[in-house]
Amino acid sequence: MKKLIAENKLKSVYLDGGKVTKVFDKKYNKSDVLYEALNTARVEDAGAKIPKLLSVDVTDGQWSITSEYVEGPTLTELIKKYPAKVDEYINKMVEYQVEFQKKSNPLLLVLKDKLHRQIDSLTNIDSSTKYELETRLDSMHNHTKLCHGDFCPDNIIADVDKDGNIKGLTAVDWVHATQGNASADIANTYLLLKLQYGEASDIADKYMDAFCKATNTQKTYVTTWLPIVAAARLAKDNKEEKDLLEKWINVVDFQ
Ligand SMILES: Nc1ncnc2c1ncn2[C@@H]1O[C@H](COP(=O)(O)OP(=O)(O)OP(=O)(O)O)[C@@H](O)[C@H]1O
Ligand SMILES: [Mg+2]
Repeated sequence: MKKLIAENKLKSVYLDGGKVTKVFDKKYNKSDVLYEALNTARVEDAGAKIPKLLSVDVTDGQWSITSEYVEGPTLTELIKKYPAKVDEYINKMVEYQVEFQKKSNPLLLVLKDKLHRQIDSLTNIDSSTKYELETRLDSMHNHTKLCHGDFCPDNIIADVDKDGNIKGLTAVDWVHATQGNASADIANTYLLLKLQYGEASDIADKYMDAFCKATNTQKTYVTTWLPIVAAARLAKDNKEEKDLLEKWINVVDFQ
């Protein structure tokens, strides 16, 4: 029987017979739905461990994407249920991310191009800040690693044992995936964790530290991306995120 598992203004996600169908509102742009399906298929082709895309359909002008169902709680639900295990969960999150960062597909959008476009579209930051951000972006290394683009606890499904220990993770929602610099994707998740859990929470800092330790990466290499990814996210124009993002854009020499 069809069961609603997630919903927002423009999308509803249903579970039916081991498959998940994301149904888009009639107002949703057809090309955006087809892009999401194509991008997800390209991530699958890259060899990342993600739910397989099964079909794209349209009924009465309403588009939908069907993929395999991944059973288990989201990482958001798990952190809420077992707060004492948060360090272990963060390590697993980093482990999974580092694993898919080893994959790549030359057909994915190039992250630097996408960030440039997003920063260029901003009308509410002054031109010298915009110039500084674009110069900084140009100076960053070109990589081709698989980046998720929205790697946050809501988009991560966990396979857990009865005590809440993670046996494996799977990320969903690959519409924003690109090829680029792994540290940019880490900086993006850092921001998403700050936005979700609040500035005072140390979850985001633990996450960045765990990545740097696991990959022997200097923290400044990741933090240099923070103003750039914050500016790019500002282009989404979410009112409730504006203050925090503007603050991160201006933290030019974050340590
Ligand atoms: N293949 C799947 N298996 C299990 N659960 C899924 C699957 N795909 C999506 N979900 C669940 O549905 C939720 C919403 O799906 P998704 O992240 O793809 O949409 P979204 O565009 O982010 O929508 P929202 O803005 O509501 O987060 C996910 O956070 C997850 O809980
Ligand atoms: Mg999502």
